Amino acid sequence: MKPKIVIGNWKMNKGFEEAEDLISEIEEKLQDYNFETEIVLCPPMLYAELVTDHANEEGSQFYAGVQNVSEYENGAYTGEVSAEMLAGMDVSFCIVGHSERRKYFGETNAIVLKKMLRLLTNDIVPVMCCGETLEERKAEKHFEVVQKQIEETIYQLTPKQLESTMIAYEPIWAIGTGETATPDQAQEMLSFIRSLIEKKFGTEMAVNTYILYGGSCNGKNALELFSQPDVDGGLIGGASLKADEFMKIIEAGETVIKEN
Ligand code: 13P
Repeated sequence: MKPKIVIGNWKMNKGFEEAEDLISEIEEKLQDYNFETEIVLCPPMLYAELVTDHANEEGSQFYAGVQNVSEYENGAYTGEVSAEMLAGMDVSFCIVGHSERRKYFGETNAIVLKKMLRLLTNDIVPVMCCGETLEERKAEKHFEVVQKQIEETIYQLTPKQLESTMIAYEPIWAIGTGETATPDQAQEMLSFIRSLIEKKFGTEMAVNTYILYGGSCNGKNALELFSQPDVDGGLIGGASLKADEFMKIIEAGETVIKEN
């Protein structure tokens, strides 16, 4: 079994000092352990350097990520940050196509794909988010919706590009609502996504691709979610803003690895 990955998506939260404090608290809690679970912190863009500075310290146990990137290479795009700039800051991961960006900032699968390609060109791992709304699930369209998202993004990559890409299934109805997908629901969809990858890229690639679950994952439910065979870790929102809670999720990842 491959090590779990736990990614903290801070979204648009934390003042600068609070961000510094949270990183210090997480570092303090990590220092006594040697975790196999891979940890990524995705603060607001403005604090990327803060996190990369810490991630670059000797013995650091986490990687630096961000939550967004421009679809463009460079030039007159006021307010945007390019993948090349992120690479220059030693950012290793970037969330793309989060449902909040799709909803509030009009990100389509085509834009998400452009962003992924910009990141891959700059050796940054895209964490591509997919997932359905509550209406789509109620109408039993969730598999269809996710399949389209995968076909229009992941299917457009070369096998080599997919090797450096992760997928996060985040059902929109579970994000920030406290209503987590049941372990069975998470497993069912992640296994479906893996089968889509297998169809296009083969078994080995399907087994090796990291597919994470996100949506109201916390210290209480992480163990059960991470125990599902196709859940390779979590993309964590609210629970990544408190060091104690975030640590419980990381510990859940460790427990599953040690038991297998
Ligand atoms: P919550 O964990 O707050 O539900 O958010 C999930 C998420 O959107 C992570 O990207």
